Amino acid sequence: MLLEVKNLNAYYGDSHVLRDMFLAVNNGEIVALLGRNGMGKSTTLKSIMGLVKPKSGSVIFQGKQIAGLRPHRVANTGIGYVPEDRRIFPNLSLLDNLKMGIKHGQGDKFRGKNRWTVERIFKHFPFMKARTHQKGALLSGGEQQMLAIGRTLMGNPDLILVDEPTEGLAPVMIAEVRDVLAKINKAGVSILLVEHNLKVALSLATRVYLMGKAHLGFTGTVEELETHPDVRRKYLEV
Ligand SMILES: Nc1ncnc2c1ncn2[C@@H]1O[C@H](COP(=O)(O)OP(=O)(O)OP(=O)(O)O)[C@@H](O)[C@H]1O
Ligand SMILES: [Mg+2]
Repeated sequence: MLLEVKNLNAYYGDSHVLRDMFLAVNNGEIVALLGRNGMGKSTTLKSIMGLVKPKSGSVIFQGKQIAGLRPHRVANTGIGYVPEDRRIFPNLSLLDNLKMGIKHGQGDKFRGKNRWTVERIFKHFPFMKARTHQKGALLSGGEQQMLAIGRTLMGNPDLILVDEPTEGLAPVMIAEVRDVLAKINKAGVSILLVEHNLKVALSLATRVYLMGKAHLGFTGTVEELETHPDVRRKYLEV
């Protein structure tokens, strides 16, 4: 098991946003976390990442307890986060934005051939080569999304948490982002994906978790979900 979240509880003030949340990601897997607006999907990712401090529960990553650690410490254990709002620096070039993802002090851990370099990122995102010196602000939404993913990969994560990567993108770009996530996964990066686009999510994931208000409603394989239209109606906008 790569990541295991158990009995996680998180609050914003008095509002109990995650109630005994659980989920797991196996090595090499793409897992989708789905559900209607406001159910707590982003909060789940933020709690894993340490951006929201959980009140109780455990987050075990590669055998280590990481619940409650500060975000940079969580990142250093090998988890990357691609936030919903992408956070591209508008005045930095594409290349400089990419380099912002490099983690210093990783020592020899990533000296192996699987290490992400700018060249390797360009192989996965060919559009970047011609846009190296373009300012972040001048990239399209889809390009910014890919840059945000590429920047996270520069930190050599074993697992990435990706929040709504296709939101607001044109259909062509949605397909490109989908394909790039599939390729990254083939290259060895496990993915926990929050995604509103059901088609994209189900075409990538092997297993899905559906969130109801603050808790999980359904856990199963994509095949199991497809044979339960009632579950889809209850937890998703379909
Ligand atoms: N910083 C915050 N302070 C207070 N309440 C918040 C904060 N962020 C989110 N919430 C509330 O917590 C609940 C869960 O929010 P969250 O963003 O995790 O949901 P979500 O499932 O990601 O929704 P969406 O599909 O709209 O992105 C919502 O009711 C939301 O209004
Ligand atoms: Mg969200």
